[in-house]
Amino acid sequence: MTEPSTQPPTAQSIDDLISSASAELENLSDLEAVDQWRVSYLGRRGALTTVLRSLSSLDVEERRTIGALANQAKNTLEERLELRVQQINEAALDLSASQDRLDVTLPGRPALGGGLHPTTKIVREICDAFVAMGFGVVEGPEVEWDHYNFEMLNIPKGHPARDMWNTLWVDYQDPSGENNMLLRTHTSPMQARVMENREPPIRVVVPGKCYRYEATDATHEWHFYQVEGLAVGEGITFADLKGTLYEFARRMFGEDRKIRFRCDYFPFVEPGVDMSIDCFACDGDGEGCRICRDSGWIEIMGAGMIHPRVLEGVGYDTEKYTGFAFGMGPERIAMLKYGIDDIRHFYANDLRFLRQF
Ligand code: DAH
Repeated sequence: MTEPSTQPPTAQSIDDLISSASAELENLSDLEAVDQWRVSYLGRRGALTTVLRSLSSLDVEERRTIGALANQAKNTLEERLELRVQQINEAALDLSASQDRLDVTLPGRPALGGGLHPTTKIVREICDAFVAMGFGVVEGPEVEWDHYNFEMLNIPKGHPARDMWNTLWVDYQDPSGENNMLLRTHTSPMQARVMENREPPIRVVVPGKCYRYEATDATHEWHFYQVEGLAVGEGITFADLKGTLYEFARRMFGEDRKIRFRCDYFPFVEPGVDMSIDCFACDGDGEGCRICRDSGWIEIMGAGMIHPRVLEGVGYDTEKYTGFAFGMGPERIAMLKYGIDDIRHFYANDLRFLRQF
């Protein structure tokens, strides 16, 4: 920095002042230093201000020429100051742009979306297939009375068929002491509940959770879903049962499926059957097939014509009305469809499993 001179200014001294001030300014790289520079040249006691003030000591002729030079010098330094500030600001911007660079080509972070549980998906798929055939969907209580879970389904107390369902009893009885409470072992109790509340024609499916007092293994869970079906009306025959369930099998497992019925026993139907589809893995060949265990057939549900005693129980005229019922396990159907080897995967809450659906 040049010390303010006490000598009267000359053209040369003004020129020198411009050169040295400009050279100094060129070397400054932060705004604070630039401001100090401004104070020392252009401030109230700055070098150039002093020059302008000392003009009065000159004679008139000199004052005019030197005065003009001094004013020019002021303008020049002010312009260079402005330019330098601008340069420093731009440099700072360039630096931050190169350091904090935003890569707009990076893929975004995907939002974590939830998904439907495989059981929910398959239950919906099953219900949709029946809805397309004119069935409605109803749900019922998971805590149920013995009356609906067994009695109304032609399974009286002490009947050996009760052994088919290992029951979780709830520690509650109705005041009469007759009716025990339980966790429903199947969705079939909704058959009686629906029929009690409606008049035929009835066509409903009942999806829902069931519970059994059971040791778990690859094919048994203590809680699982079922989808029950019920159709009651005038003149319903076993042919209707066959046609409906055949259509369901085709919708669920593909157009080419064959179905097979074999006699089976359920107390609430007569005749009772189990329905199988020909194995979609080996196309019914059987030989060495893991899915159907060499048989060529896969059982997918129980079904039958509603037992007259069940219809009588809800007060229907058995001369007028007949019907069919069926029940299936959606987890089992999902296991077949997706090749899942252990039913316990469904409710183990392992995201590696759940994310696959
Ligand atoms: N409720 C039976 C079970 O849990 C399944 C079943 C079989 C339901 C035959 C039906 C049926 O409606 O007709 O094993």
